[in-house]
Amino acid sequence: MRRNPAESWDALREKLLVAPSLLSADFARLAQEIAIVERAGAQVLHLDVMDGHFVPNITFGPPLVATIRRETDLWLDAHLMVSDPLRFLEPFAKAGAGSITIHAEVLTDPASFRAEADRLGIRLGLAIRPDTPIEAALRASGSDFDLILVMTVMPGFGGQAFLEGSCDRIEAAAAFCSSAPRRPVLEVDGGIGPATVAEAVRAGARWFVSGNAIFRSPDPAAAFRDLQASLDRHTVGRQ
Ligand code: DX5
Ligand code: ZN
Repeated sequence: MRRNPAESWDALREKLLVAPSLLSADFARLAQEIAIVERAGAQVLHLDVMDGHFVPNITFGPPLVATIRRETDLWLDAHLMVSDPLRFLEPFAKAGAGSITIHAEVLTDPASFRAEADRLGIRLGLAIRPDTPIEAALRASGSDFDLILVMTVMPGFGGQAFLEGSCDRIEAAAAFCSSAPRRPVLEVDGGIGPATVAEAVRAGARWFVSGNAIFRSPDPAAAFRDLQASLDRHTVGRQ
């Protein structure tokens, strides 16, 4: 089985990067879609898992992640939009996910998630929905996580517009991430494309999930490269 490259988390967590979301890809040509973004320079692939209960949509489960793992060496970043995430950490870890993100709205006992993630050797993320008070969620449990995912649309569907007010929430999460002991990666997800990436990066996000803007574009490789280039320009601008 292919793996999330060894030592890659330590390198990836420092980067400003675009993580293509397969949700908007053509599932009949999944291997080709993955190869397109991999060749274009992607390092992280975002996988949206939906259970039809936590969100009003259903996508895929561990068997599909395992088939993706066989096709690529990219870091697999699973986003679990499910009501009972604790019992799914192990199947997704075994299927090859390197980071697994669960939702604050269904988080019961952060310590059990941390213990399970450490046992499985995966990185653990906390996703926060736009209608959840962000500072309270971070204060309550954020320090147990390696990654914080600020949702910038309501989870459930690709192709939605980046919600107004998201940048204040990203800034609040960025302040938390810069002082939390684990120094979690700050990821944003929803409505990220050429028109929104700049404001999200200025607000302090590090990883940018993007589905429609890449896979529904006529040239997904170029769309990926353009988005990544705007992050690279930001890095250069700060040096
Ligand atoms: C939505 C998912 C997102 C989605 C983003 O619930 O979590 O990852 O694929 O898609 P776009 O970039 O189209 O908003
Ligand atoms: Zn997602």
